[in-house]
Amino acid sequence: MIDLAVLGARLAGQPDGEFSDLLVDQGRFVAVSPAARAAAGQAASQAAAPGAGRDATPPARTVIDASGAFASPPYVEPHVHLDATLTAGEPRWNASGTLWEGIACWAERKAMLSRDDVIDRATEVLRWQAANGVLHVRSHVDVTDPRLVALDALAEVADRVRDVINLQLVAFPQEGICSFPGGEQLVTEAVRRGADVIGAIPHFEDTREDGVRSVQIAVDLAVRHGLMVDAHCDEIDDEQSRFAEVLATFAARTGLREKATASHTTAMGSYNAAYALKLERILARSGVNLVSNPLVNLHLQGRLDDYPKRRGLTRVKEMLAAGINVAFGHDDVMDPWYPLGTANPVQVAFVGAHAAQLTSPAEIAECFAMVTDRAAAVLGLGDKYGIAPGRPASFVLLPASGPFDVVRRQVRPSHVVAHGRLVATTPASVTTLHWPGRPAEAVDFIRRRDEAGATWRESHTTV
Ligand code: FE2
Repeated sequence: MIDLAVLGARLAGQPDGEFSDLLVDQGRFVAVSPAARAAAGQAASQAAAPGAGRDATPPARTVIDASGAFASPPYVEPHVHLDATLTAGEPRWNASGTLWEGIACWAERKAMLSRDDVIDRATEVLRWQAANGVLHVRSHVDVTDPRLVALDALAEVADRVRDVINLQLVAFPQEGICSFPGGEQLVTEAVRRGADVIGAIPHFEDTREDGVRSVQIAVDLAVRHGLMVDAHCDEIDDEQSRFAEVLATFAARTGLREKATASHTTAMGSYNAAYALKLERILARSGVNLVSNPLVNLHLQGRLDDYPKRRGLTRVKEMLAAGINVAFGHDDVMDPWYPLGTANPVQVAFVGAHAAQLTSPAEIAECFAMVTDRAAAVLGLGDKYGIAPGRPASFVLLPASGPFDVVRRQVRPSHVVAHGRLVATTPASVTTLHWPGRPAEAVDFIRRRDEAGATWRESHTTV
């Protein structure tokens, strides 16, 4: 008897009317095969693959009838700050809404950090993430703190949540590697204490030269220790801020390549076309990833602009078209830089579609990939991610026709499964419309194309 069978799920790219069974044992997929029977709730004409029979499914301790729901690998959060999360308003609110006042507020709050404080807040948001179907998280952790309180606390948290969430920690020098006293030593010490990824913040360093040197230090450390790099890079509305070219060049020359990520890169929204074209070539050639954070950068950037006011995002559409891997991150959840958020990546994908004008059906579906597959590539998950035999059985079931529908209707996962264990369930919410002169009826915001059903159809090709 196997541990879990999920019957009648729809996988990405699966043709209309075809469904799959996912069989799970000891935390891994043991089979992903054509459904042994029609998905419940689907028309008979949309039934199972020819030749399949009910007996083909082995007995399981737990059986989930997916009823044709879309089964996806879990959401991946490629960029969040769990050390600062849930500190909005402490000790004061960021009145200007700028990145710089956020850093100043955080410096005051950072002095008050304790192990228990960090563990409590980070654990709370990780619980929200699991409930939202996020099972892989990369968190930046400020290491410009001589005590490294947050790093040690989050390492403890990573250990505690391991059975549900895979948590990567970035040694992030919020106040600089070269410009903060002892910054280089602190980043080095963070690596010694087990950080998975090296961070940097070159645009915050005092001089251009310090910025370049800080990237060099981060890349050298990563190469020496076999780690990844994820730099906050050009998160400023200054068209003169040009550190993505530095990171990409060092990543290419050292062979770090796709193990390097430039996060934010909002200055790219202000570059002239000639430089943007040059940079696009350098980035594409280097293999580095980009992470855009539309919720937070729409909130933070453009604050010093009169009208017209910049969106303050990197060039998402153009970079995708150039073959560069771009993912969407949440960045902040209720902290000095962003007062809102429930750690839900579907909100990020939804807002990202608007902010980056990714608005064709294929582009909207691509926004879903930017919080799943593309974000998984940023974290370097490889064969630890995806729905296939032998891989960890971590996935979500979404009562939707596919990625486009999830983004449009902001569909929550009905089931979240981590390593073969059910860790979150969300029943469907039902709204009943009592329209005058009509019988009460349920409204689910699904566009039904015909009487025969096919309610969850979705066909498009991704970009
Ligand atoms: Fe960030």
